[in-house]
Amino acid sequence: MTRRTDAISVFAPAKINLFLHVGDKRADGFHALESLVVFADVGDVLEFSPAETLKLTVAGPFADDLGAEGDNLVLRAARALAGRARCAATAEIKLTKNLPVASGIGGGSADAAAALRGLATLWQLNVARGELTALAATLGSDVPVCLESKPAWMEGRGERIAPAGPLPALAMVLVNPGVAVATADVFRALARRRGTGTVDHAARMKRPGDLIAFLKTTGNDLQAPARDLAPAIVEVLDELARMPGVELARMSGSGATCFALFEDTSSAEMAAIALSHSHPQWWVKATRTLN
Ligand code: C5P
Repeated sequence: MTRRTDAISVFAPAKINLFLHVGDKRADGFHALESLVVFADVGDVLEFSPAETLKLTVAGPFADDLGAEGDNLVLRAARALAGRARCAATAEIKLTKNLPVASGIGGGSADAAAALRGLATLWQLNVARGELTALAATLGSDVPVCLESKPAWMEGRGERIAPAGPLPALAMVLVNPGVAVATADVFRALARRRGTGTVDHAARMKRPGDLIAFLKTTGNDLQAPARDLAPAIVEVLDELARMPGVELARMSGSGATCFALFEDTSSAEMAAIALSHSHPQWWVKATRTLN
C-alpha cells in the first residue's frame, strides 16, 4: 500500500469526566466504571510526516514533564498499530504538549488515540473502527473514548463506549495545581464508591441547565482518594466554587485537574483571569466543551 507523503496534523483534546462512578474490582484487576465524558477545545497537537525511522520530538509548555521517550504512549501506539497492520513503524511525530501530564484530563490517552488516527491515515491503513478501538483499549482505559473525541457514556473498564447527546456546549474552567497524581495510586486509596448502573442515561440534558442539574445528582468517586493524596485539590475546588457564576466544581478522572461549569462564557473567562492572577503557579484555562 502506498503511504501518504504530506504531513498530517491531529488535535488531541482534553477529556473531562463530567461524572465518574466506580463499581467493583473485576477479575482483570481493573474497576468497573460509569462515566459521562466530554472533550474541551484545549488540547495537545500531533503532526505526522513520513520518515525512514520512528522518531518523536516533544515541544510545548509541558514537554519537560513527559517521561523517557521509550515510555511515551504515542510510540507505544505507533508500534502497536504497525504490529497489528504488519507494516513498518516509521514516521516523524511532533507532539506539542499543551496539557499537564498525569492530570486526569487524558493527555497521554488523547495523544495515543491521535497517534492511532494520524498514523492509520499516514500509512493508509484499512483498519476497521472496532479493531482500532480494541487496539486502543490495550494502551489504556481512556484511549478508546479519546479515539472519537465526542461526548460519550463510558462503561466497563473504559472500553464500552456509547455516543451521548447531543449535549449542549458548556462554559468551563480547567485548573491543575501542578501536582501529578498516578491513577493506580488513586484507585488503591479508594474507599467509598457509588457503584455502576445507577444513572439514568435518558435524563434530560438538552439545555446546559438540564445537564448541570443532572450532574448534581452524580459525583466523582475518585475525588476523595485523590484529595487525600494531593491536598492541593481541596484548594482548587474551594477556589473554583467561590467564583461568580459557577454552577458546579468537580475533579476530572483521577485528578488532579478540576473543572468548573459556569452559567456563561464571560463568567468562565473572568474566573480564569482571576485565578491566574491569584495562583500564578496553577495551570488555568477557560474553555468550552466540544459537541
Ligand atoms: O488503564 P490505565 O493505564 O489508565 O490504568 C491505570 C491504573 O488505574 C490501572 O493499572 C488500575 O490500577 C487503575 N484502573 C482501574 N480501573 C479502571 C481504570 C484504571 O483500577 N477502570
